[in-house]
Amino acid sequence: MRLTIAAHDDADSIVDLVNQAYRGASSGGWTTEAGLIEGPRVNRAVVAEMIENGQATVLLARDQAPKQIQGCVAVRPMEDHQWYLSMLAVGPAFQTGGLGKSIMTAAEAFLAERGARSVKISVIDVRDSLIAWYERRGYERTGDIEPFPYDDPSVGVPLRDDLTLITLRKSLRTSDPAETRQ
Ligand SMILES: CC(C)(COP(=O)(O)OP(=O)(O)OC[C@H]1O[C@@H](n2cnc3c(N)ncnc32)[C@H](O)[C@@H]1OP(=O)(O)O)[C@@H](O)C(=O)NCCC(=O)NCCS
Repeated sequence: MRLTIAAHDDADSIVDLVNQAYRGASSGGWTTEAGLIEGPRVNRAVVAEMIENGQATVLLARDQAPKQIQGCVAVRPMEDHQWYLSMLAVGPAFQTGGLGKSIMTAAEAFLAERGARSVKISVIDVRDSLIAWYERRGYERTGDIEPFPYDDPSVGVPLRDDLTLITLRKSLRTSDPAETRQ
């Protein structure tokens, strides 16, 4: 799986893909948030800024022809060689065929090449089947719990008042000989 780095022109397609994957009610996939949160997961301004301000990188999985974007994920460096991974999405029509797993593997390789030692993600606490999916990919619960951003309308309208975000982390295997000696 080869991921490409999103460009400005990809913003609209990414917004459509992410909102369909996360919140698509009729065509929603097996992990849809519809029923938990209403409204779009992202808007164009948020995605355009991610692409343009250089603090995050949005990686895309594209079909060969007609070059449709099938999946995406955003990554950004944090402190201590840890990277934050978010906005993972596979279009509902392409889900359950292994694409999500391939994107995660390729994104982790992308990060390892840039010196990442671990990856952190945040998941809404009640999304049990999604959390189990990440755990099968090697992510472990850290025990940290963050408040859900109830005051941020750009992430949609929560339909419950008891949501929180849990943190999962995965250590990446290092290829640095200095790390593996000892
Ligand atoms: C999460 C997501 C990226 C996974 O991508 P995907 O292409 O559907 O996943 P894959 O095909 O690689 O893996 C499917 C796995 O889910 C399992 N699965 C399929 N349908 C399922 C269901 N109804 N319930 C539980 N597990 C299911 C499969 O058995 C397979 O399990 P495995 O890990 O043992 O192989 C995708 O569903 C998505 O875009 N979801 C909406 C956005 C989202 O929630 N992103 C993450 C936010 S933190």
